[in-house]
Amino acid sequence: MGRKKKKTPWYRLKMKKILVIGGGAMGSAFTIPCLENKNKVTITEPYSKAFIKDLSSKNKFHSSLKINLPKSLKFRKFSTDLLREKFDLIVIALSLSGIDFISKELKKLKFKNPILVLTKGLKYEKKNNKILTISEQLKKNYNGMNISVLKGPCLAKELARKNHTSVIVANKNIKIAKQIGKMISTKYYVIEFSNDVIGVEVCSAIKNIYAMIIGAGQSLNMSSSLFQKSIIEMKYLTKYFKGKEVTTLGLAGVGDLYVSASGGRNSKMGSYLGKGFTFKKAKKKFMPKDTVEGEQLAREIAPYILKKINKKKIPLMLNLLKTILKNKKLNIRL
Ligand SMILES: NC(=O)c1ccc[n+]([C@@H]2O[C@H](COP(=O)([O-])OP(=O)(O)OC[C@H]3O[C@@H](n4cnc5c(N)ncnc54)[C@H](O)[C@@H]3O)[C@@H](O)[C@H]2O)c1
Repeated sequence: MGRKKKKTPWYRLKMKKILVIGGGAMGSAFTIPCLENKNKVTITEPYSKAFIKDLSSKNKFHSSLKINLPKSLKFRKFSTDLLREKFDLIVIALSLSGIDFISKELKKLKFKNPILVLTKGLKYEKKNNKILTISEQLKKNYNGMNISVLKGPCLAKELARKNHTSVIVANKNIKIAKQIGKMISTKYYVIEFSNDVIGVEVCSAIKNIYAMIIGAGQSLNMSSSLFQKSIIEMKYLTKYFKGKEVTTLGLAGVGDLYVSASGGRNSKMGSYLGKGFTFKKAKKKFMPKDTVEGEQLAREIAPYILKKINKKKIPLMLNLLKTILKNKKLNIRL
């Protein structure tokens, strides 16, 4: 009688199990290099009926990416049971407003699955009057959690079309960042690494506000001056929040700022502010249905920034926060 073949344990398998939470543009685009790298990829959507419909349909046509996602991508209904399964990597691709929800859900995890956060933004913790990065907020609910972050200049639509994209994965333990890199990188999705988790998170969030400021220069000489001054402020803020200044010059900082300032919703809103519109008027008239991430972040962090940070160090940021919060005209003097 032939001997029974022993089953290879999951951790020795080359094919990794990845769960992506968030079926929006970025979460869905991210599944493409993951699948190409021969992983078993499952996507789930906890919030949007439209994305659930897209992902559960037969041809998996994504209404925002305007492509059919690969057939090998598995869609599962979001549930606590799903989160309790063992994955080699759980990817969070929700927008900032979904972070409170998912951090509570993660409490229920049975395994300490490694987590990778794609979401960009910062949270204001009123109780302790503190600004938290997303990984810090998630760790509050799931102590000992192995969290990495992935940031950088990446338009979801371009990644979905396999255009060259370089991003950065950060973990305090660089070995973990590199293991994740192996799981997700392809010829067109190139990964750099950092151990400066805070710096990478701070840069990737505040660049949305600086993209608006640079947009106010109407892509003229003024935009170049604003770009240079924005980098000085980003360096100051990164250091203030205990990241490394040098991270500002990497993919999560100037890299992402470049692409956001040259196009996209933040710089578009900035261009209207630069033309003399108030935020409310510009939003209503030109961008009524658009989410402007820089605006959301400005409202989130303003209570802290306006009180705590030396006004002389970040004049551009303060100017923009007041423009949005008080609905005043932008008044930049260089
Ligand atoms: N790291 C990167 O390379 C990279 C690149 C692009 C975008 N992003 C970031 O990824 C995030 C998502 O961007 P996107 O383009 O996919 O946006 P999207 O609008 O296409 O998708 C947003 C996702 O968040 C979910 N969501 C929204 N509000 C929610 C709520 N209140 N509760 C729970 N879930 C909620 C939606 O259902 C959807 O899954 C953003 O933070 C964005 O800045 C990261």
